[in-house]
Amino acid sequence: MYRLHHADCFEWLRACPAESIQAVCTDPPYGVLEFTGKEVSKLRAGRGGVWRLPPTIGGSKRDPLPRFTVLTEAQKKQLARFFGEWGRLLLPVLVPGAHVCVAGNPALQHLVQGAMAEAGFEVRTAIMRLYYSFRGGDRPKNAEREFPEVCVTAKGSYEPWMLFRKPISERTVAENLRRWKTGGLRRLSLDKPLPDVIPSGRTPDREEAIADHPCLKPQHFMRILVRAMLPLGEGVVLDPFMGSGSTLAAAEAVGYESVGVELDETYFEQAKASIPRLAALYPRFIGDEMEMEANLPTAPVQGDEQLSMLLAEAPAAYADGQGTVRNRTRVSEVLS
Ligand SMILES: C[S@@+](CC[C@H](N)C(=O)[O-])C[C@H]1O[C@@H](n2cnc3c(N)ncnc32)[C@H](O)[C@@H]1O
Repeated sequence: MYRLHHADCFEWLRACPAESIQAVCTDPPYGVLEFTGKEVSKLRAGRGGVWRLPPTIGGSKRDPLPRFTVLTEAQKKQLARFFGEWGRLLLPVLVPGAHVCVAGNPALQHLVQGAMAEAGFEVRTAIMRLYYSFRGGDRPKNAEREFPEVCVTAKGSYEPWMLFRKPISERTVAENLRRWKTGGLRRLSLDKPLPDVIPSGRTPDREEAIADHPCLKPQHFMRILVRAMLPLGEGVVLDPFMGSGSTLAAAEAVGYESVGVELDETYFEQAKASIPRLAALYPRFIGDEMEMEANLPTAPVQGDEQLSMLLAEAPAAYADGQGTVRNRTRVSEVLS
């Protein structure tokens, strides 16, 4: 069950009843300006501004990405103020012990963590979403031949999802769990805690075909994360920057109640249509394991060039916690 609100989440949070939400999972506009009316117009026009088009690979068109390196010092301060105010408005709306998971960027996450800590949250950890990224790894611009052995920054292959908690009100986590049903995270299973590294992939084409949002997150990752946010599986998950609704779709698939807020009318309308369709994908996958068998390819593979390039970049193997090293990167995930 879910409720959607077409609103500015700052206004919405001001009017929200105290202690009414048990968890937050969200992918905010952490460059702050990329979802302002001006920048969204440039994105929709396909040119200029903070959005850039990544290189085409094997003839396949890529989604635009926000270019955070263009943020000035003043904009970084604005970003910290944005999260400071957001955190202060969010805190009273949450029950004690509620977890808040926020998608970030390695170069900006310290600003968000500092602002959230000042707003009264505990900084717990960050969950790494491993995926193929276009971030970093380049040689110095216009001097590539002069410095062939140099990369300006490390090649990126993770997205940090910062984890915060509203301080518990009881003496122990156990007492907080009994009173508020929050304070901890839900394990994958009895013998597997939630790991802080989750092999992911880029959002599959079949999901992007349903929801045309430049920041649509994959259901595989979102279901694992959203499920973990309610330790006893009870309560409401909020996404205040819902976009086209991947968090709410994940909550639906997992069987949780959720609330979404979105400012942009186009994305809001898209979310209404996309959530049930995204939630209906992979009906056997409810985020309680790392593998997603249902994501195996259903159509013949095309684009060998793209495949070999992406596989070469993809994380190779992960221990499954029982001593077995297995390749977790599904061909379908890197391809689709
Ligand atoms: C990074 S996107 C989220 C995309 C989402 N993860 C998905 O899968 O579709 C952030 C969203 O926050 C929205 N947004 C920006 N400022 C907002 C605000 N003040 N209140 C509510 N939504 C806002 C933007 O329009 C954008 O759709």
